[in-house]
Amino acid sequence: ERRPLADLAASLVQDVPDFPEPGVVFKDITPLLADGAALKAVVEDMASRAPGPIDLVVGMEARGFILGAPVAVALGAGFIPVRKAGKLPRETLAGAYELEYGSAVLEVHPDTIRDGSRVLVVDDVLATGGTAAATVALLEKAGGVVVGLSFLMELTFLGGRDRLPGRPLDVLLSY
Ligand code: PRP
Repeated sequence: ERRPLADLAASLVQDVPDFPEPGVVFKDITPLLADGAALKAVVEDMASRAPGPIDLVVGMEARGFILGAPVAVALGAGFIPVRKAGKLPRETLAGAYELEYGSAVLEVHPDTIRDGSRVLVVDDVLATGGTAAATVALLEKAGGVVVGLSFLMELTFLGGRDRLPGRPLDVLLSY
């Protein structure tokens, strides 16, 4: 049963009204990250729900790194950072994604992804799904097989799931 963990995690996510702009309620996970027992339980839960063997865990900059790397360690998998443009030093594959205003670019080092690797994508929040959809496209272009995505929370009212049709999604908290 996942309920006690979800209740614990939810109690440690703090609503911040009007951040980063008026009318938006930001879900701040730093109190959860600061709680050792909760962080460990969340990471172990994400790892235990992975769909089959995982070769690589991918985390998206920046909060996806915080959860993704320990999930990778828990699974004995490698970790791949998907970064915002201009941060990775070697040859990159790049993919653009839409933001509320304009667009942005994510990059990965494609030579760190062996063809046919089973990849789990981990991030803190699924919101509009733009980040996750762009990440999936990038990873598959690089030869990975995205077998699932795991999020600490989903903002269901933003419809991000619709941008990941047919993808196995795991979410601990839904708002
Ligand atoms: C946040 C969050 C996800 C993304 C979700 O990251 O960590 O990666 O937004 O939004 P979406 O589903 O609408 O694409 P952000 O870009 O704010 O970067 P950060 O982790 O560096 O704060």
